Amino acid sequence: MQTAFTRLVGASTPVQVAAMPGISTPELVAAVADAGAVGMVPTAMLSAQALEKSLGQLSERTGGVFGVNFLIPFLDPACLAVAARCSRIVEFFYGDPDRELISSARAHGALVSWQVGSLEEAVAAERAGCDLLVAQGTEAGGHVRGRTSLLPLLSRVLDAVNVPVLAAGGLATGRDLAAVLACGAAGARMGTRFVAATESGAHPRYVQALVAASAGDTCLTERFSVLWPDAPHRVLRSAILAAETLTDEVVGETRLGEQRVPVQRFSVFCPTVETTGRVEAMALYAGESVANVDSVQPAARILSQLVTEAEQAMRASGGVEPAALES
Ligand SMILES: Cc1cc2nc3c(=O)[nH]c(=O)nc-3n(C[C@H](O)[C@H](O)[C@H](O)COP(=O)(O)O)c2cc1C
Repeated sequence: MQTAFTRLVGASTPVQVAAMPGISTPELVAAVADAGAVGMVPTAMLSAQALEKSLGQLSERTGGVFGVNFLIPFLDPACLAVAARCSRIVEFFYGDPDRELISSARAHGALVSWQVGSLEEAVAAERAGCDLLVAQGTEAGGHVRGRTSLLPLLSRVLDAVNVPVLAAGGLATGRDLAAVLACGAAGARMGTRFVAATESGAHPRYVQALVAASAGDTCLTERFSVLWPDAPHRVLRSAILAAETLTDEVVGETRLGEQRVPVQRFSVFCPTVETTGRVEAMALYAGESVANVDSVQPAARILSQLVTEAEQAMRASGGVEPAALES
């Protein structure tokens, strides 16, 4: 399944798995890259030294494609230089497209991507020199940049820019992948589906809650804003209700680098296998895609099912043949 995205980055599957701090373990990123899709490494709260070490290990572990994600409010320039030298893609999210950041990453040889939430942001990112974009609809899990749902945003972005565009937000199945490819996207980016991958670092009770939930169980909120205020995010509503019933300011403990740190009530940290305490009351990020997360499977299996189902959906529609994507 070749698209403008796979050709640009050198992958064989038009799927990118989002960088998710605490969830995107090296095992998950490597499994995704080994399976021919694109794995993304989160950098929030990581030192440049630790990042260099982990990217070096990842390169030894997989011959596949991976990139590095930067959240603009937490960006460390030293990490950016390392990422641009040691990975195929450097990607930014949650800030206005910045020509200097983009050219400094490109100067080291990386392709540069920006996850956008509006048409204006997409146009600005292309003008500032990005090689590819991710259009994120409000259905997305985790932090949500814009105010428009995926399809209206995607259509407008595809009309306005010339670089390959990935679609993100609410996508979890092969039908979803086929749908966005048929729209003209160069691939899909998924987060929530892979929180329930075998290799994910998510706490098992977080994964159980995702498997049990349906799309109506998520909501877009600003409640989990400790450490990152004024940034809307989509979570399971049950997490807000659980946190509201607690009165303690600290609801548990987690690992950050080499240290154990307290998890404050309504903090941005989502629960990982290293987290203890009131897991159900922490930020259980989930997109509307959670409707189609009903089992825990290895990342390679999820990806092969996505491709098989997408090809079947394209044939069933009587429209796009998978081979047509290659032209
Ligand atoms: C647990 C979780 C953490 C996330 N963390 C990040 C992040 O650090 N950087 C980023 O660019 N996007 C992050 N996202 C958002 C994704 O990039 C993407 O837009 C979203 O997962 C797509 O929607 P979906 O979850 O329905 O697939 C996160 C999403 C989830 C579910």
